[in-house]
Amino acid sequence: MGIAIRQIHPMFVGEVSDIDIGKPLSPDEVAAIDEGMIRYAVLVFHDQKLTDEQQMAFTLNFGTLEDARGGNITKPEDRRLHVGMNDVSNLGKDGRPLERDSRVQLFNLGNMLWHSDSSFRPVPAKYSLLSARLVNPIGGNTEYADMRAAYDALDAQTKAEIDELICEHSLMYSRGSLGLVDYSEEEKAMFRPVRQRLVRTHPATGCRSLYLSSHAGAILGMPTPEARILLRDLTEHATQPQFVYVHRWQPWDFVMWDNRRTMHRVRRYDHSLPRDMRRTTLAGDAPTVGQQA
Ligand SMILES: [Fe+2]
Repeated sequence: MGIAIRQIHPMFVGEVSDIDIGKPLSPDEVAAIDEGMIRYAVLVFHDQKLTDEQQMAFTLNFGTLEDARGGNITKPEDRRLHVGMNDVSNLGKDGRPLERDSRVQLFNLGNMLWHSDSSFRPVPAKYSLLSARLVNPIGGNTEYADMRAAYDALDAQTKAEIDELICEHSLMYSRGSLGLVDYSEEEKAMFRPVRQRLVRTHPATGCRSLYLSSHAGAILGMPTPEARILLRDLTEHATQPQFVYVHRWQPWDFVMWDNRRTMHRVRRYDHSLPRDMRRTTLAGDAPTVGQQA
């Protein structure tokens, strides 16, 4: 029996069965998952007991790995996982939960704000792929918002108003909104704002979607408070329940999503208990807009 995909939300999200993604995939399986991503934007797999090597091998069927440098404040010597594996756990190098007030832990809380992965990079991420190795017993759901459906639901006047707008995204905007405002000169240089279109067109479908993220903190040519009100307003619109899928993690769930068409956030959980989630990230193939010379 071949791979099967069942839609589990009225607008997007497919649940994939009859496949072991730890094994090398056939070209038909790769094609089915590719098509599933274009159609559903989020694919959920269950019971996939992966090693990091297997996760990496599966990931590379769908593109090239994103260079993860500049994505967080963890120093290379403090990393728990190999290069290429994004650590989105709450664990330190010793495998234990980070101290509640550690700077890395506080910085990582930014994942609880709605965002699209790597929207703070000039070429933002294509797919993110997340393997749940150890889940927290309470909370810690990941929520996904369908930004194409959210765009389609806007009235014509709003679409006309925002279609050509360019935002600035930076990790300092998302973390700044949590009160984390102190950065070293090196971090400031690393987190320098980049430009992104507010409305982007999907390269595979030609469909438009809102490109929002908590990393967005300014709109070119607009006073900052006005820009932030507009961004908040659009985010509120885009994250209404009808556009959102809530994923309740089971151990060894595996979820991949298209950052070009979705936003996501993690919900609160008990940080004193371990949560081990490992992400691989595929690079996008083009910027959404030219950067400043
Ligand atoms: Fe994320």
